[in-house]
Amino acid sequence: MIIDTHAHYDDEQFDTDRDELLSRMHDGGIGLIVNAGSTLESWTKIRKLTEDYPFVYGAIGIHPDEAGSLDEECMARMERLLDLEKIVAVGEIGLDYYWDKESHDIQKKWFIRQIELARKKEMPLIIHSREAASDTFEIMKKYAQGMKAVIHCYSYSPEMAVEYVKMGYYIGVGGVITFKNAKKLKAVVEAVPLTSIVLETDCPYLAPEPYRGKRNCSLYLPYVAGKIAELKGVSAEEVARRTEENSRILYNLQSL
Ligand code: NI
Repeated sequence: MIIDTHAHYDDEQFDTDRDELLSRMHDGGIGLIVNAGSTLESWTKIRKLTEDYPFVYGAIGIHPDEAGSLDEECMARMERLLDLEKIVAVGEIGLDYYWDKESHDIQKKWFIRQIELARKKEMPLIIHSREAASDTFEIMKKYAQGMKAVIHCYSYSPEMAVEYVKMGYYIGVGGVITFKNAKKLKAVVEAVPLTSIVLETDCPYLAPEPYRGKRNCSLYLPYVAGKIAELKGVSAEEVARRTEENSRILYNLQSL
């Protein structure tokens, strides 16, 4: 089976056909989906999704673009949600200097606070990092040592990916790998072992070829697996099997 380690089915782009779409996952070979948190409003929707669909799990966290909406009361609410059985990670959290919607100090403060909460709850991290390579790396080194994490939608150098892998983290690979101009990400996939890669959509964003620019969904993950298989010189089945195992280790889902 294929596991989607990062999706946003709470997004309003799915409001018209969410149930119909999710009902097709099993036949499409998608066995488990982890829906990542982004805004405060996403949390309630994610909880509901995990209650409505046995194969949907959730992560709770605040995206760096929204870091300014966090306060102590929200952190307490986050902590309570993390106790729910089907909430399996803290995320997505991190730094985004591309959109730069919040000051770097605010982003760093709440990134670190959410890492500390995950450590307290012994939960893995889903890391979002865009144009903030060195600050993210420094914070992970200082605060997330020994924790489990995925660097979601990885967009940096192969050298840094290797460093993250040495720290025990997973590299999240999605639709971008199928893009013609994705030279750097292809070099990343070649540089890190298959045992450190997990599949993700980040849907509704970043649909793979041949759906580039359209609304993404987990059913398109075989295109991502196929491209990774080609780069690694193994079968797509092997990529699906191995990344499933990696995802289960990452999110503590081995017994399911
Ligand atoms: Ni995301």
